[in-house]
Amino acid sequence: MKAYSIKDLLTPDCIGKEVVVNGWVRTFRSNRFIALNDGSTQRNLQCVVDFESFDESILKQINTGAALRISGTMVESMGRGQAVEVQVKELFIHGGADPEVYPIQPKKHTMEFLREQAHLRVRTNTFAAVMRVRSALAFAVHNYFRNHGFYYFHAPIITGSDAEGAGEMFRVTTLDPKNPPLTDEGLVDYGEDFFGKETNLTVSGQLEAEAYAMALGKVYTFGPTFRAENSNTSRHLAEFWMIEPEMAFYDLDDNMDLAEDFIKDILNYILTNCEEDLMFLEKRLLDEEKTKPQAERSSMALIEKLKFITENEFKRVPYTEAIDILRNSKPNKKKKFQFLVNEWGVDLQSEHERYLVEKHFNCPVILYDYPAKIKAFYMRLNEDGKTVGAMDILFPGIGEIVGGSQREERLDVLQKRMEEMEIDEKELWWYTDLRKFGTAKHSGFGLGFERLVQFATGMGNIRDVIPFPRTPQNAEF
Ligand code: 4AD
Ligand code: MG
Repeated sequence: MKAYSIKDLLTPDCIGKEVVVNGWVRTFRSNRFIALNDGSTQRNLQCVVDFESFDESILKQINTGAALRISGTMVESMGRGQAVEVQVKELFIHGGADPEVYPIQPKKHTMEFLREQAHLRVRTNTFAAVMRVRSALAFAVHNYFRNHGFYYFHAPIITGSDAEGAGEMFRVTTLDPKNPPLTDEGLVDYGEDFFGKETNLTVSGQLEAEAYAMALGKVYTFGPTFRAENSNTSRHLAEFWMIEPEMAFYDLDDNMDLAEDFIKDILNYILTNCEEDLMFLEKRLLDEEKTKPQAERSSMALIEKLKFITENEFKRVPYTEAIDILRNSKPNKKKKFQFLVNEWGVDLQSEHERYLVEKHFNCPVILYDYPAKIKAFYMRLNEDGKTVGAMDILFPGIGEIVGGSQREERLDVLQKRMEEMEIDEKELWWYTDLRKFGTAKHSGFGLGFERLVQFATGMGNIRDVIPFPRTPQNAEF
C-alpha cells in the first residue's frame, strides 16, 4: 500500500481508511500514544498503540527520534488536541534512537546547542517551520520572475575577476600550500595554478548577469555567494544565497519599483501558503518576547509585521535627506550613536539604518543617491557629479536587505571611475566591452536571501535560517 503523508491524513475525510504512514517519533506517552511527525506539516499524527498486542521489545524501541512505519485505521479521536488518529495495527521500526544519547529530546533546547547539532536540529518544530518557509520563499522567488518575463541565469561560482569590491574573497587553488611554485620575485606563481591565474569564490553574480541582461533583457541569479569578511554578527554569513535580478533599459526608479513589488509578492506568497508555520513561528516569538524587557519587545506580531510590509509603501529617501535626519536626531545630538553623523559623505552604519527604519520612519525605507565615494565603481554617476544611482532597502530588525543600483552604461565615465578606484581595466575587459557594443541604461539589485528568511520567520540570528551555516571559525558539517 502506498504510504500517506501526515499532512494528507489529518482531515476528517480520512476517517475509516486503512493507511500506511512513515515518520519519526516526537513523543511516546503512557506506552500508548505516539506523536509521529514526517516533515510534511507542523502537526503530528497521533498513533494509538494497544500495548497488549505488541511485544515488549518493540515498544521499548519507540523512543523520541526513532523512525517508524505504521499501518492502521484512521478513526475519530476521543482525546483533545486532534480530530483524527490512527489505531495502530502493524508497527515496523525502521531505526531506533537511543534515548541515552539522542540529543533532540522533547524539551526546550537553546539555539546555541542546536547549532552544534545542525544535522538534527531540523527535527525540532522551530527549525522544520523555518526550513519549510525558506523552501516556499525560494519557490516564490522563481515563480515571481517567471511570471514577470525574467530568465534564470546561472552565474559562475568560481570567478577570475576580483574587482567587484563587494567584500573579501575566498581563494580557489589546487597549488600545494607547503610547496607552491614561485615567480622570480619569490611570490606564489598562480600562472601555474589550475586556471593559470588567481581565482576566487564569487561575491556576487552581478557583473556576469549584466552581460546576460544585455541580450536576454531581464535575468536573475539565485545562488550561493561567498564573503570572507570577519563579521561575527547575527546578519552575516561567509556563505549566503543572493538573488540578483538585472534588467536592460531600467533606470533607478524602475529598479526600486521592481524590488518593492518583488518583496511584497514573495511575502504574500508565504502569507497565503505557509499559514500554519507562520502561526507557529509567531507564537514562538511571542513566548520569546515575554522574557525580554518591555522596551525591547516588538510592537507587532510576526504575521501582522509581514502584512504591514505587503500593504504599505516603502518610504523612498535620498541619502542627503537621510543624513540631515540623522544629524539632527536625538541619539546623534546626545552622542548615543557609536559613529556620530557629522558630515555629508559618511557611510551609514547599521545603527543609523536602524534608527531611520525603526524610530524615524517606522516602515521599510529605500535610501538612494549615495555619495559616489562610498559605493562601487559600476554605479551610475548622477548629474551632480558626486552621487551615484544606488539604492539600499532597509528593513525593521534587519537593516540592509537589498543593495542595488543603476549601472554606469557610458564607457568614458566608467573608465574614469575605474581609474579613480584603481581597478585594472585589462582584468575587466569583457565588462567594458558591454559598454562598447550596444550599451544601454540598465539596473539591478541583490537581495540577501537569508536576511529575507530571517525577517519572514522572525529568527534573531542568521545562522538559524540556513541549514548549515558557514561563519568565521565554523564550517562543521
Ligand atoms: O549590497 P551587496 O554587497 O550588493 C551586491 O553584492 C551587488 N552586486 C548586488 C547587485 O546589485 N546585483 O549585497 C546585497 C545583499 C545585501 O543587501 C544583504 O542583504 C546581503 O546581500 N548580504 C549578506 N547576507 C548575509 N551575509 C553577508 N555576509 C552578506 N553580505 C551581503
Ligand atoms: Mg550593500
